[in-house]
Amino acid sequence: MRESGVLLVVAVFCLMLSAIHQVDAQVDVEVNKRDIVFLVDGSSDLGSASFNAIRDFITKVVNKLEIGPDLIQVALAQYGQDVKSEFYLNTYTTRKYVVAQVKKMKFLNSTSLNTGAALKYVQKNFFTGSTGSRVLEGIPQLLVLITGAISKDDIHQVSQELKQGGILTFTLGAKRTVPSELQEIAFDPSLAFQVDEFKPQPLQGVLPRFLTPLKTLTGTVVEAPVPANPRDIVFLLDGSVNVGSANFPLVRDFLINVINNLGVNSESTRVGLAQFSDTPRTEFNLNSFTTKPELLNRMAQLRLQGGNALNIGSAIQHVLQNHFTSSAGSRIKENIPQLLVVLAAGKSTDNIQSAAIQLINSGVLTFCIGVGGADKEELQRIAFNRQLVFEMDDFSSLFQLSQEILTPLTTYHRGPVTEVTATTAPEGKKDIEIMFDTTYIADRFSLVCDFLIGLIEGLKGLFTFV
Ligand SMILES: *[C@@H]1O[C@H](CO)[C@@H](O)[C@H](O)[C@H]1NC(C)=O
Repeated sequence: MRESGVLLVVAVFCLMLSAIHQVDAQVDVEVNKRDIVFLVDGSSDLGSASFNAIRDFITKVVNKLEIGPDLIQVALAQYGQDVKSEFYLNTYTTRKYVVAQVKKMKFLNSTSLNTGAALKYVQKNFFTGSTGSRVLEGIPQLLVLITGAISKDDIHQVSQELKQGGILTFTLGAKRTVPSELQEIAFDPSLAFQVDEFKPQPLQGVLPRFLTPLKTLTGTVVEAPVPANPRDIVFLLDGSVNVGSANFPLVRDFLINVINNLGVNSESTRVGLAQFSDTPRTEFNLNSFTTKPELLNRMAQLRLQGGNALNIGSAIQHVLQNHFTSSAGSRIKENIPQLLVVLAAGKSTDNIQSAAIQLINSGVLTFCIGVGGADKEELQRIAFNRQLVFEMDDFSSLFQLSQEILTPLTTYHRGPVTEVTATTAPEGKKDIEIMFDTTYIADRFSLVCDFLIGLIEGLKGLFTFV
């Protein structure tokens, strides 16, 4: 059954073009960018003759593809009991090398055939940025499973996950496979191919039907189901000379890495961004972008604001007033956690006292990242608690932090806002009773003291203290 919500667009232009006889030779080679991973049965049941025929088939397919780091990338893995990675998407950048390596692939002759585990392995280890996948650039991700028998392990869950991850899986089976299994694994039943035997003749016969969608198919990436953990995150970046244009790319990459790992869409995590030095500047709001590719595209254009001063206090007030509001996309009224991540590389040049107090009452969970000359004590007063202050010796450490900060960013939330109640009595005498819900104060006691001092200072002019 075809899942609702799964969009599949099969381009038939190639078929139409190939019907016209005097087609330019170039048409034969599609220049569409795509990442294609081949996963091949290497079990002893298949036998080396069939294996060799499959290997020749892959060589023929690759020879029809325009391989290059900016065009089509190909990876290859073999499986049986386990998976053997032959090469990754970013291992070879020319067709010549890819073909040579395919031809060199040795038959694993494994005793089992765990297709489910192999698909899971490939999903985790091949369709990832570190091995060359360009999924974040919106480039179609294709998987070709070629197998000769029924899987020995379960394939249901991983088949669902591959579809949800937007991976376009093709299957090619022979004799001892079950068509329904290969149709379930395939992104769409039309992408499940079958031959009588893995022999040169039948494989040659299926080649044109197989190549067309492989070269032209584009799938709409299906977002994972709405996560149970939506949040609004605003980043506030030091855009002053403290960072400087030499280090700014490291800050930007940090942010890109964090965003890459968040499930960004309008229903789950929303991201906003501001920079500051002497004055704060909104880069984009929580509701400016609804998809990750749009957001990453905007991030790539981010430039250092510049400026000598670092007015952290006024920058925090700016984000509270302009970013954590319903009109700017904040879902604070829906009780979605509100997070602020402040990155500073120097000491504030304005007073942070009042901003820190406003943060207490705002319902915002504040993280602070201090790099280089940042003032630790200052950041501890701003952050929700001391555990949320991350100190980095230098900008290159930010890469590591982009991994470490993910769990707190995606799991922490703060308790209800502390209520401050003032009861008034007649005749000018006032008893001011201040109540704090201590459950959530924990190690923020110093901030509470700051708050009290601020309050008392503010009241001094109005009242005489007894
Ligand atoms: C595969 O392994 C079996 C033993 O399990 C052996 O008899 C056979 O010759 C092997 N085939 C190849 C091609 O290595």
